[in-house]
Amino acid sequence: MNAVREVFRRDRVFDFMVPKVVDDLDLSHGTLLYMEDVSVAFDGFKAINNLNFYVDAGELRCLIGPNGAGKTTMMDIITGKTRPDTGTCWFGSRMNLLQMNEPEIAQAGIGRKFQKPTVFEHHSVFENLELSMAGPKGVWRTLWARLSSAERERIDEVLELIGLSGEAQRLAGALSHGQKQWLEIGMLLMQNPMLLLVDEPAAGMTHQEMDRTVELLTSLAGEHSVVVVEHDMDFVRALNSRVTVLHQGTVLAEGSMDQVQNDPKVVEVYLGE
Ligand SMILES: Nc1ncnc2c1ncn2[C@@H]1O[C@H](COP(=O)(O)OP(=O)(O)O)[C@@H](O)[C@H]1O
Ligand SMILES: [Mg+2]
Repeated sequence: MNAVREVFRRDRVFDFMVPKVVDDLDLSHGTLLYMEDVSVAFDGFKAINNLNFYVDAGELRCLIGPNGAGKTTMMDIITGKTRPDTGTCWFGSRMNLLQMNEPEIAQAGIGRKFQKPTVFEHHSVFENLELSMAGPKGVWRTLWARLSSAERERIDEVLELIGLSGEAQRLAGALSHGQKQWLEIGMLLMQNPMLLLVDEPAAGMTHQEMDRTVELLTSLAGEHSVVVVEHDMDFVRALNSRVTVLHQGTVLAEGSMDQVQNDPKVVEVYLGE
């Protein structure tokens, strides 16, 4: 029994610590996400129109654009919620996202945070992270009913990262709006995603919370690729990353915040808002 237990536990620890698909991705070209010539129409209206979009491994990228530009639809395509009519989407150079369904894409290492936080309000902050942990844990949990030290360490590490170490035992429902957003980012991190898609993280936040969120997202880059959709231009500027401007379902401009803000095409689009 002890031998079985050892094997089982070691297996759990390794399964938990190593991102599952890194070997399958082939990141030798440095690019994590490739979207090429992607188009999708809803009732004849082209929400995404010949879109080309690339994200490097470890890159932080901001995605901006007026309402209806296609930002959410683009995220829906990456996560498998919407299928494009034409084009290609690859995760690394080996995983064809268009041949994978939503759970498979999530499992492969693409995590998405929607605008509205969806934490488990009646569970503690710690339990929220525990419940989001990668891998099947049902059997393990009923057999041993406690976390391995590696799992506990990982939860503590994420608590620290999202600035909620002091709130670990509080009910998630009692957190501020900003804290709930961070907790949800933490819940995504428990699944070791390679790519995080974050929709309007700053909406409804105080300035102080925004500053903290800038720090958090910046600290995630490097180990993860992060794509942030955001309307608040001060927030985007503070992230100090490459910016992609989407308009009418296609890339209008790409570059530093200064470059895109001084681009006459971009100015025109935003003046029209
Ligand atoms: N399921 C859908 N059916 C019909 N039209 C849609 C659908 N999803 C998005 N659209 C349209 O596609 C365009 C792009 O929408 P969206 O991706 O939500 O833009 P953004 O997130 O940049 O504001 C909008 O004109 C929107 O009305
Ligand atoms: Mg949207």
